[in-house]
Amino acid sequence: MTIQTIFTQALTGQRPGTSGLRQKTTAFMQPMYLENFVQALLDVLNNGVVDGRYLRGQTLVLGGDGRFYNRAAVQTILKMAAANGVGRVLLGQGGILSTPAVSAVIRSRQAFGGIVLSASHNPGGPQGDFGIKYNASNGGPATETLTEAVYAKTQTLVQVRCSDAPDMAIDQQGVQWMEQMQVEVIDPVADYAALMRSLFDFDLLRSMFARGFTLRVDAMNAVGGPYAKAILETELGAPVGTVVNAIPMEDFGGLHPDPNPVNATELMTCMAGVNAPDCGAAMDGDADRNMILGHNFVVSPSDSLAVLTAHARLIPAYREGLVGVARSMPTSAAVDRVASALGIDCFETPTGWKFFGNLLDAGRVTLCGEESYGTGSSHVREKDGLWAILFWLSLQGATGRSIESLVREHWRVYGRNYYSRHDYEGIPLDVANALMADLRAKLPTLQAQRFGERMVMLADDFSYLDPVDGTSSQHQGIRLIFDDGARIIFRLSGTGTDGATLRLYLERYEADPVQQDMPVQKTLADLATVAEQVAGIRVRTGMATPSVAT
Ligand code: G1P
Ligand code: ZN
Repeated sequence: MTIQTIFTQALTGQRPGTSGLRQKTTAFMQPMYLENFVQALLDVLNNGVVDGRYLRGQTLVLGGDGRFYNRAAVQTILKMAAANGVGRVLLGQGGILSTPAVSAVIRSRQAFGGIVLSASHNPGGPQGDFGIKYNASNGGPATETLTEAVYAKTQTLVQVRCSDAPDMAIDQQGVQWMEQMQVEVIDPVADYAALMRSLFDFDLLRSMFARGFTLRVDAMNAVGGPYAKAILETELGAPVGTVVNAIPMEDFGGLHPDPNPVNATELMTCMAGVNAPDCGAAMDGDADRNMILGHNFVVSPSDSLAVLTAHARLIPAYREGLVGVARSMPTSAAVDRVASALGIDCFETPTGWKFFGNLLDAGRVTLCGEESYGTGSSHVREKDGLWAILFWLSLQGATGRSIESLVREHWRVYGRNYYSRHDYEGIPLDVANALMADLRAKLPTLQAQRFGERMVMLADDFSYLDPVDGTSSQHQGIRLIFDDGARIIFRLSGTGTDGATLRLYLERYEADPVQQDMPVQKTLADLATVAEQVAGIRVRTGMATPSVAT
């Protein structure tokens, strides 16, 4: 075996977005595309400029969500890691590791960092998407300082180092060597399951299933299946078949593995039926997102964070209470009310889990969440789908109440934040950029403007100053905040691969219990009209309605 130096041409367009580098699978399969990015990453990690630590001789965790190209990418990365002086790789068996499991393994094995192969909730397969992201030694997504350094490197890269060793056997657990690098193929579930056992009362959950509690978890043919089966069925005694679509498939069986009411249609139908289970749940491609359902009742992710915060003390891991909470800016302010009642801090961060990392590391927050079906805590540095499912099951076990009654009770106590996100997908980039630029230019004129009963109290482009390391992030979304607390937010997605996606977030608060059971879109229709008036989405995009509204 020898280490080859391959001359390459620097590529443009490899800037990581909200969550790593995402592209069409076909783009990733072009000669040197993956290699260039991985070499840039390894160079940055080996030169110690980012946090003064050097990757050489250290341990990396590696795994992905099992989508098409996962296995081939694993082999390429192993050969490149061996050629770039990595000491050891902990590889999930079969190349499989969910995003929260990578985070858990980095932390439990004190690894230098980890590489996750996933495009999360984006469809997979040869015609779908692929992605790669780096997580640091805290288990969390790389900071923007690091991703920007990698991006800069991709633009000047001239050579790639790669071992010419044959492909490794990745389907059997155990230790092997490639060049001077040890590769340990590990059980993808074990470390993660041990962590869950340490957080929740597994005896309580076991007794629920023994008494006949019914659950349906839709793993959407993605990586969450093996985790959910091992923990819920094997360990906690839920009947076999509780987890459906449980075998990770390279194309997710054609499903769009994004757990929302639009994509998880099978689960929605099941939860609306007469024989619906007590609880329904779904996860996304890499199992960091979650959707929670009761009988014919969808828990909005923003409400989920608020309810979990309000009841956290019922969970062994959070019995002492929470130090603080954080939500991304577009996430509804439901959790803010709970935090203020509990007398704890509530941070508002830009979109993307990476912004929670410093707050979690500094011990300033315990729970975090995003409106995009992401919920998590300080147990790892990623959002965590199965953790959220176990949390909701535990709440039902500890209180004896259904999901719907827990949420309705929450609204009665704290009020309801009606909330919806409208996505306009596949907009030409120039149209989307012009729409945002025009909105930005208009901000001063929107200040104090009246729209019907409401007046704009604040019109701005959200910026964030990280209270831990002082980094500032600009242009994180246009906000219109009204005098009654209602909000309209516009931002462009940072995870798409087809043109641009405009996300429009609508929110309004309702304190009156009598008014808390209205159809969500209806109650937000006037805000949608204002958004249209201000941004001219229809005219500019030619789209009469959003592609997805949840
Ligand atoms: C989307 C979500 C965001 C989430 C990210 C990664 O990013 O909106 O909350 O953190 O996916 O799962 P966006 O496409 O909006 O940039
Ligand atoms: Zn995901």
